[in-house]
Amino acid sequence: MVVSKEIVERAETLRESIRYHNERYFGQDEPEVSDAEYDALVRELLALETEHPEIVTADSPTQRPGVGTAPTPFSEVRHIQPMMSLDNAFSRDELVAWGQRIGRLVTETITYVGEPKLDGLAISLQYEDGKLVRAATRGNGESGEDVTANVRTITDVPERLTGRSLPAVLEVRGEVFMPLSSFDELNRRQGEAGLRLFANPRNAAAGALRQIDPTVTASRQLSLFCYQPGAKEGGPRLRTHHETLEWLTGLGFPVNPHIEQLADLDAVYGFCTRMEQSRHSLGYEIDGAVVKVDSLAQRDEMGATSRAPRWAVAYKFPPEEKTTVLREIMVSIGRTGRATPFAVLEPVFVGGSTVGLATLHNEDEVARKDVRVGDTVIVRKAGDVIPEVVGPVISKRKKGARRWKFPVSCPCELHQPLVRLDGEANHRCVSADCPVQREQKVIYFASRGAMDIEGLGEERVHQLVAAELVQDAGDLYSVTNEQLVALERMGEISARNLVNGIEQSKQQPLARVLVGLGIRHVGPTAARALAVALGHLDRIAGASDEELEAVDGIGPIIVQSIRAWFTVPTNRALIEKLRSAGVNLTGPAPAQGPTEEQTLVGRTFVLTGGLEAFTRDEAAAAVTARGGKITGSVSKKTSFVIVGENPGSKQVRAEELGVTQLDEEGFQRLLVEGPPAEPEPERAKTAKPKKPAKAKTAKED
Ligand code: IVH
Repeated sequence: MVVSKEIVERAETLRESIRYHNERYFGQDEPEVSDAEYDALVRELLALETEHPEIVTADSPTQRPGVGTAPTPFSEVRHIQPMMSLDNAFSRDELVAWGQRIGRLVTETITYVGEPKLDGLAISLQYEDGKLVRAATRGNGESGEDVTANVRTITDVPERLTGRSLPAVLEVRGEVFMPLSSFDELNRRQGEAGLRLFANPRNAAAGALRQIDPTVTASRQLSLFCYQPGAKEGGPRLRTHHETLEWLTGLGFPVNPHIEQLADLDAVYGFCTRMEQSRHSLGYEIDGAVVKVDSLAQRDEMGATSRAPRWAVAYKFPPEEKTTVLREIMVSIGRTGRATPFAVLEPVFVGGSTVGLATLHNEDEVARKDVRVGDTVIVRKAGDVIPEVVGPVISKRKKGARRWKFPVSCPCELHQPLVRLDGEANHRCVSADCPVQREQKVIYFASRGAMDIEGLGEERVHQLVAAELVQDAGDLYSVTNEQLVALERMGEISARNLVNGIEQSKQQPLARVLVGLGIRHVGPTAARALAVALGHLDRIAGASDEELEAVDGIGPIIVQSIRAWFTVPTNRALIEKLRSAGVNLTGPAPAQGPTEEQTLVGRTFVLTGGLEAFTRDEAAAAVTARGGKITGSVSKKTSFVIVGENPGSKQVRAEELGVTQLDEEGFQRLLVEGPPAEPEPERAKTAKPKKPAKAKTAKED
């Protein structure tokens, strides 16, 4: 069928327009159109291209999402052969549809190879005359980061290849991952040192690979399995994938022992289910199976789209679900007084770790799910690591189970009222004296995105507050070595390190102090803008509304929030304590100061609805600066959907796919604290309901 000129032209106009808006959005931070308008352009182009595949161009934005990239301390390496992605199949039907589709592209019967889909990071190893010369991350597929020095410390990576007729140049692709034993050991060490725990082995592996100091990478005990050659000059002629893998094994590369040759699609599906059943007994994490066509000649016939080969597919395991009993619904109090209900569960092993707590977000969410104390509930680990209560199993509900009612007072010892204002989704404890809030504020002040005080985690702050050494963050600076040593589980070295950490934090730039104060809506971006524009905390405190509003990115809501914060006497007292302790209150942050920690590597975000403290581009910049990615549409691969005011269809989609949703406060927290740690099996704990206040709340009406 000949495509009309109008259609070809319309598609090109749409492409130009999408490219233009990508540039406004990611390049210049000045979007001109709303999310919905942008989405409509992309949808229209996708529809035209789907109906008329012959008009798709290689440079169409549909082939390559125009996202920004994070700054990096590693130099760039171009892959000789690009590193492609894989298309996904989420069910038996989708797997069979893939098999049938490629079956039509070749005449001979297809046989397959099934491999575990390792949940780590793709790496490309380049060998010249059998010697390792470079190792690079996948990056955008065309070029990645040079991590050679770090990769050389991984004992599984051969430095020299063995055997005869070695290719002059060889790229080998594989997955670097952290075995569960190394992961547990690393988190044990982190915990002992009072450092943040890693959320999962993939994050830990990503962190280990991006270290500036290779000895740190070496201490993290990474592993490797290789699954695919890239460029190859010379060496033997290979006809099949399984032959290739045997050859790679002979050269000294580690190849996964669970890889199987599979005769047909039934065998393929059988392999996928076997992998799913054995996924927790492998000693490392997998998130699916990769199915590949065995014959290399058939692969050539099938070819690739611009992002993925047609001859392979990733079968993704569905999110794991388990049932367990909901013992209680409690409420945790955050640093802003926000009261978050959470489920206390009979601990259950799901998605690779034991879950004992799960957030229920707010009153409406509990009502919508209608979960009641004593219910058998379904628990799921959605996409990422945050456990979720899907809903009750009504058939197992006990007679007389009552609907849950939000408690009227704060669970702390002051029992002040919890209020839900008109138009708000959350209840808040309005007392300025609430001890739980105070403790949370100190935790936040010390956290990585704020003052980043080494060794001062949640548990330590709790100890300091319980021992009445600390009431607010300002008190940290008068804690002495002797006082610390007297605390339980505090050795001399830890005490000295903590005192040093607190002392060093006095030099942190003003923007970090501002974040640490925890002024509502003042996240890292607003804080930096304020520090740069006004240059001293006193000037920010004393600025008029007009002066504040003149600062880039600061609108009336943030102004109001800053004003309100500085009028509270205890906040003013806190500033005086910081001042007399010698904490730096002058800005701006040094231009080439520390880049953000790469806490969001591997995470994909979608924004929907308006946020109060961020414009769209600020939110995107905050994510990309931490190594995360922003995309335009929600898929199963999306890690988080950030839901603002008046969200669009993306929220519905997130709901359908079970993708974790974050509201603005949750987003801010993620930026500052990084993704939540996995709950520890014996002492179940989630990052969302931080240190829940111990007091129990009303169970029924
Ligand atoms: S083959 C062109 N095989 O999955 C084929 N990838 O979703 C390239 N992965 O970037 C990939 N295990 O990081 C392949 N056995 C396996 C894999 C595997 C994990 C990862 C890899 C890739 C991603 C695609």
